[in-house]
Amino acid sequence: KVLILDFGSQYTQLIARRVRELNVYCEIYAWDADSAAIEAFEPQGIILSGGPESVHMENAPTLNEVVLSLNVPVLGVCYGMQLLNQYYGGLVEGSEEKEFGYAKVHLTGQSKLFAQINKQALDVWMSHGDKVKALAPAFHSIAHTSSTPFAACEHKELPIFGVQFHPEVEHTADGREILSQFVHGICGCEKLWKTDNIIDTHVENIRHLVGKEKVLLGLSGGVDSSVVAALLHKAIGKQLVCVFVDTGLLRFEEGDQVMQTMADKMDINVIRVNAQEMYFNGLKGESDPERKRKIIGELFIRIFEQQARDLDDIQWLAQGTIYPDVIESAASSTGKAHVIKSHHNVGGLPDDLALKLIEPLKDLFKDEVRKLGVSLGLAPEMVYRHPFPGPGLGVRILGEVKREYADTLAKADHIFIEELRKHDLYDKTSQAFAVFLPVKSVGVVGDARRYEYVIALRAVETIDFMTARWAHLPYEFIDLVSRRIINEIDKVSRVVYDVSSKPPATIEWE
Ligand code: XMP
Repeated sequence: KVLILDFGSQYTQLIARRVRELNVYCEIYAWDADSAAIEAFEPQGIILSGGPESVHMENAPTLNEVVLSLNVPVLGVCYGMQLLNQYYGGLVEGSEEKEFGYAKVHLTGQSKLFAQINKQALDVWMSHGDKVKALAPAFHSIAHTSSTPFAACEHKELPIFGVQFHPEVEHTADGREILSQFVHGICGCEKLWKTDNIIDTHVENIRHLVGKEKVLLGLSGGVDSSVVAALLHKAIGKQLVCVFVDTGLLRFEEGDQVMQTMADKMDINVIRVNAQEMYFNGLKGESDPERKRKIIGELFIRIFEQQARDLDDIQWLAQGTIYPDVIESAASSTGKAHVIKSHHNVGGLPDDLALKLIEPLKDLFKDEVRKLGVSLGLAPEMVYRHPFPGPGLGVRILGEVKREYADTLAKADHIFIEELRKHDLYDKTSQAFAVFLPVKSVGVVGDARRYEYVIALRAVETIDFMTARWAHLPYEFIDLVSRRIINEIDKVSRVVYDVSSKPPATIEWE
């Protein structure tokens, strides 16, 4: 297994995902992690990530010497390479111009790091301010570009390497081969991290941890909780009890689908709580977006808590926490890397429930969770679905939420999604949905005048959901969806398409 030390680069998680894709287990630790923790991890190799800072800045992250004392191969990426150079007596200098984007790298001589590459020039991705001005005497250069003679380097005796560019980024053409050579060829890591092995290990661990006790899980219909359910079911069968709260704010017929898949097909213990009335009553008269979110979240906890109390022999609470959540909350709690996202998931149960917490996905990335889900028998269309916000249709009905609005919206959304899938556009958008506008407008359908509501269609393309561009769907396609919605749903007289990107708009309308 490989340890990745995080110096704050936006690409650190990507390095970890790439290493995992090479079937090698890895974890990310902060650059200033305890030496004891680093040793205890027993890495077969260490990767030092990039970082936004300059090595000369005050309080710049430094290299913990334990990294070099373990006598395992080390690869420094960008800032990581600069740190290695500085440590061995080289010169790192800030430059006025940041280099950002594609660069052509020429490989010089024979380096073990490039053993899987049989060309002399590579297109790589650069993103740095500082660069190595004079190489440490212990190193020699193994690649250059037109702007630097030191685009990559290798220690003359030890298996220590540095690359100024980013092999983990898709734009670096042979990045995968470079990382593979490092983890397999140089560190000697075997390809043990595979979906089947992951399932076996997790099943064994869960059985060991839980024994004969019972586990409670809040099933939302989303990917993470569904995969947790499938995994726990495989491990402990009927000792798992799932509670599925039907809020009335779910996607079209989602409640029935969850029951069909989880309860009927997979034979998982699921209690379906019909809480629609409670939600519509609770939301009556409320049109403030933040208060709506709060009401929805609090109701969920209250209902879930009641269920938990009714089932009196439960000892464990399962949650669908995944690895990026763990990394992000660790980063924010130490105040180190920039907090990337603090999202509003429903969670938090009162302490007096006194349940032990089990989070079986907490060392997995989202793509790994999805693969696991498919291997465990969940439908790929479900596992690869667009994200759906915790408060559901509650934040897609502007202003006050009413059952009539929710039903209309669910139908319109269903038509949109169905057509996206039919036209092979679903996977080309990152998130797509309909929004209900409680505004009436006039239309003519057939010979009759219609005075009804507006549906807005929203579709975006994004990598990280922090910024997004509105999807340029074909006009003919939007036309088709618009016609279907107005023809098939009486309560709609007009369909509009949202052409706002994020920023300045957000993806959701509330
Ligand atoms: P925004 O609207 O902030 O959305 O651009 C970014 C992503 O987050 C999702 N989202 C939520 N997810 N609870 C959630 O679990 C929420 O309250 C919530 N609000 C937004 C949104 O769907 C998009 O994917």
